[in-house]
Amino acid sequence: MKRLGLIGRTLGHSFSARYFAEKFEREGLAGEYEYSLYELPEIECVEELVRSTENLLGFNVTIPYKQQIIPYLDELSSEARNIGAVNCVKILADGRRIGYNTDVDGIRLSLNKLLGSVEPEGALVLGTGGASQAVQYVLAERNIPYQIVSRDTAKGNLTYDDISAEVLSEHTLIINSTPVGMYPKVEDAPSIDYSCLTSDHFLFDLVYNPVETQFLRMGAKYGAHTLSGLDMLYAQAEAAWSIWCE
Ligand SMILES: NC(=O)c1ccc[n+]([C@@H]2O[C@H](COP(=O)([O-])OP(=O)(O)OC[C@H]3O[C@@H](n4cnc5c(N)ncnc54)[C@H](OP(=O)(O)O)[C@@H]3O)[C@@H](O)[C@H]2O)c1
Repeated sequence: MKRLGLIGRTLGHSFSARYFAEKFEREGLAGEYEYSLYELPEIECVEELVRSTENLLGFNVTIPYKQQIIPYLDELSSEARNIGAVNCVKILADGRRIGYNTDVDGIRLSLNKLLGSVEPEGALVLGTGGASQAVQYVLAERNIPYQIVSRDTAKGNLTYDDISAEVLSEHTLIINSTPVGMYPKVEDAPSIDYSCLTSDHFLFDLVYNPVETQFLRMGAKYGAHTLSGLDMLYAQAEAAWSIWCE
């Protein structure tokens, strides 16, 4: 049996475990591959996990280990190095461990789907965590100028109070890279004046539960084009699968 899995501190109901179990079943791979949840109380435990798990091809990495895993790896992809976060590890036959960031694949695909051939002149990236870093990487790659919005004046270029009607008219792509609006707080939405949005605006929410967040619902109400985090979620999982299989 070839083994894959997810490391994190508390895993509960994991999307990845369900996604890969269904994929292996659907594609007739259930007898060949197994995807398990590995709850690690400390990142140091990854050494023992790798040592004691036979045929471990690699694993996904989630909160709080996306940065902490880096010292335990031999190499990083250029994306993982630039972003400073790893969500996918491949273990080579000689034991070397390579870190990747497949969130960027999901973000690339999502922006292509949302924007089509439109090239926005400016974007607002809400939040300054790991997901925001991956979003910023893809925006830079696409030459879309962006401003980072944070609650903390020291962390971003703008705070929520700075997002005036003028700022919104100059930044037609708005990406929610915060957990605001995520289940169970589904009535919450990032603090912007939604009535300033128009059909020239594009809203991408990294949150995938619920699929239609309050952020997207309010944007759609004023004519904005919207996309949830669900496509990103599937795309990052498929990108990880390709890395493990290549
Ligand atoms: N669809 C996918 O495949 C996918 C992949 C990765 C992540 N995500 C989602 O993306 C979101 C962010 O992930 P992350 O790992 O970057 O999370 P995180 O590090 O916990 O938070 C990101 C940032 O959000 C801001 N924030 C947190 N709580 C807030 C609040 N109550 N009000 C306003 N801003 C707040 C903070 O920025 P400031 O302190 O600077 O304001 C924080 O740095 C999560 O909802 C996650 O589920 C989705």
